[in-house]
Amino acid sequence: MALLNHFTPCIFFLLLFFTSGITHTESASPDVELVLGKIRASLQGNAENLLLSSWNSSVPLCQWRGLKWVFSNGSPLLCNDVSSPQWTNLSVFEDPSLHLLSLQLPSANLTGSLPRELGVFSMLRSLYLNINSLSGTIPLELGYCSSLSDIDLGDNLLTGALAPSIWNLYGLVSLRLHSNSLSGSVPEPALPNSTFNSLQVLDLGNNKLSGNFPQFITRFYGLKELDLGNNMFSGSIPDGLSGLNLEKLNLSHNNFSGDLPLFGESKYGVEVFEGNNPRLCGLPLKSCSGSSGISPGAIAGIVIVLMAGTVVLASLSIWYVQNKKQKSRGENADELEEEEDDEDGGVAVSVGGGGGGGEGKLILFQGGERLTLEDVLNATGQVMEKTSYGTVYKAKLSDGGTIALRLLREGSCKDRGWCLPLIKQLGKIRHDNLIPLRAFYEGKRGEKLLIYDYLPHRTLHDLLHEASAGKPVMNWARRHKIALGIARGLAYLHTGLEVPITHGNVRSKNVLVDEFFVASLTEFGLDKLMIQTVADEMVALLKTDGYKAPELQKMKKCNSRTDVYAYGILLLEILIGKKAGKNGRSGDFVDLPSMVKVAVLEETTMEVFDVEVLKGIRSPMEEGLVHALKLAMGCCAPVASVRPTMDEVVKKLEEYRPRNRSALYSPTETGSGIDTPF
Ligand SMILES: *[C@@H]1O[C@H](CO)[C@@H](O)[C@H](O)[C@H]1NC(C)=O
Ligand SMILES: *[C@@H]1O[C@H](CO)[C@@H](O)[C@H](O)[C@H]1NC(C)=O
Ligand SMILES: *[C@@H]1O[C@H](CO)[C@@H](O)[C@H](O)[C@H]1NC(C)=O
Ligand SMILES: *[C@@H]1O[C@H](CO)[C@@H](O)[C@H](O)[C@H]1NC(C)=O
Ligand SMILES: *[C@@H]1O[C@H](CO)[C@@H](O)[C@H](O)[C@H]1NC(C)=O
Ligand SMILES: *[C@@H]1O[C@H](CO)[C@@H](O)[C@H](O)[C@H]1NC(C)=O
Repeated sequence: MALLNHFTPCIFFLLLFFTSGITHTESASPDVELVLGKIRASLQGNAENLLLSSWNSSVPLCQWRGLKWVFSNGSPLLCNDVSSPQWTNLSVFEDPSLHLLSLQLPSANLTGSLPRELGVFSMLRSLYLNINSLSGTIPLELGYCSSLSDIDLGDNLLTGALAPSIWNLYGLVSLRLHSNSLSGSVPEPALPNSTFNSLQVLDLGNNKLSGNFPQFITRFYGLKELDLGNNMFSGSIPDGLSGLNLEKLNLSHNNFSGDLPLFGESKYGVEVFEGNNPRLCGLPLKSCSGSSGISPGAIAGIVIVLMAGTVVLASLSIWYVQNKKQKSRGENADELEEEEDDEDGGVAVSVGGGGGGGEGKLILFQGGERLTLEDVLNATGQVMEKTSYGTVYKAKLSDGGTIALRLLREGSCKDRGWCLPLIKQLGKIRHDNLIPLRAFYEGKRGEKLLIYDYLPHRTLHDLLHEASAGKPVMNWARRHKIALGIARGLAYLHTGLEVPITHGNVRSKNVLVDEFFVASLTEFGLDKLMIQTVADEMVALLKTDGYKAPELQKMKKCNSRTDVYAYGILLLEILIGKKAGKNGRSGDFVDLPSMVKVAVLEETTMEVFDVEVLKGIRSPMEEGLVHALKLAMGCCAPVASVRPTMDEVVKKLEEYRPRNRSALYSPTETGSGIDTPF
């Protein structure tokens, strides 16, 4: 009994082996077997097809129409010569190392559908089944053909959505799906930064595709031909598209709207964009209102002259700096100025520098309409400050106006696909407590400038911590107004916009205060534009300066709650009058929240307030001082979820106001009228 039990499985196995052995004598190569079976059946549909009938094991493999073969070792099956021995060799297809290399049957009267089994062909390189009547969907298994480089399924009756697996095909050179009935939006590659550098042709024209312009295409730097024409795409055309060197582009007959990217002069004709939403504007279509002031020609280069006194000692170009930096990676972007500044002189930095017209481009936002490329490029300026993000210049325009230029550090905003939309979003933000972005300039060599109003005001940091002549008395009413202004600006970023933004770098140095104690925030929303090293530096700096929320480890993770934490520290700084974080002179770390806790325990709360704050205060309770201190402590709660929102902060500050606010309405300084050029 036991013996039999042992033997039965063995017998089954042997039987199986023999039966399969018999069927396999006809076609030993799995690829050939599939072609003869599933592929042929699926492609021809119900009707017998003349070309496909050549796929028959009684016909030599070389005479099967539309197919090319390759052996596992990479050498192709040579069939190009009728006199070659392979041409009539009937046993070639028994070779198990034979693989399908290409399937090309355009205009072959195919009426079936694309079988899922296509995904099995690991060495298939080209698939041309265009101009047939194939219906059904493109199987997602096609994305398993890891060797596929050329696909043409144009002019068929294919329906359904394009599966994301198509972006598994890293070796794609051309993907043509023109004139089918594909629908849905174009799927995103699974890896967010896929670049598909080998892809040269992407033709999705004349389908029923919808959704936004597939942004990620702007990172396909090898692309030469892009056809999205005659679909149902909507939304705007990303600026990043102008960064591609396309020979052919067709975006006509969709529902695109908004501003066209600035393509090189007369690069594309009207026909490329015709038949879209009437709100699509910009060259070569009708000009968009507001951006007619740019004349892209005749710009020699951007010249920012950094002057000390009137002497200009050196002239260098950013091009030179960038070259130098490429040679010695990892150096600080601002090193040039540091090197050259040593003679207490200035440096002339010419950004761009090359001759020729149409270099660089300027995107104008509301209030910046009158700015021209020439204005920006010829502005002379001086360094105001250097921050993690880059260098800020105060620049004089030829018409006498002044602007603030922020030259972003090299490498910033590299991913144009999402950087430009973000900058455009920043350009739309208008709020009394936020300094407006008026324009964005990108030079041909990638240098990027953010152009803001220049406000001749002190920073809150200076008002609180620097002793200087003519500094106003910083009483509680004034500090309260500043704190409320900052809170309103942040609340607007967090909840007042369609797409919320985090500030990312709330600190007293990023608050400008005018003579009526109206606070304006700078540097908001820039954290998302930074390269990783800068972002890491930022986190380190926030920590040093005490503004870093305990849970914030990566700049990417910064959110409205981490902004609230930083605001809490800032409010303590306003109330206590001390800088948080590492103290430059003593090296001690000043932990403002702990200071308050200790004072409360020791019942010396009143002593933590800055003496100037208490001037003229009758009752800290009544004047809202104690409430403000509590509020600040709530914002600095170590657990993010218990911190109030900025909207709640605004409400609380409005509720508990200082009573005597007359000091607010008398300007403290004269002669510093608003100096805005626009
Ligand atoms: C293959 O060809 C032979 C002879 O030409 C024919 O009899 C047979 O039906 C064909 N088989 C298929 C599956 O078409
Ligand atoms: C036919 O092809 C097989 C497999 O490639 C090969 O082994 C055989 O020698 C060939 N026969 C002739 C007559 O060329
Ligand atoms: C295409 O296929 C149909 C049947 O589906 C047939 O009637 C017609 O003759 C074929 N045309 C050609 C050119 O093979
Ligand atoms: C995506 O970017 C990261 C960081 O830059 C890199 O490590 C990774 O290899 C990239 N992935 C692809 C598919 O390029
Ligand atoms: C763009 O595509 C549309 C629709 O497919 C076509 O009619 C038009 O001729 C194409 N235009 C260009 C310039 O290729
Ligand atoms: C085109 O897009 C606009 C929004 O930009 C939308 O309101 C409109 O319905 C769209 N038209 C069509 C035909 O899809």
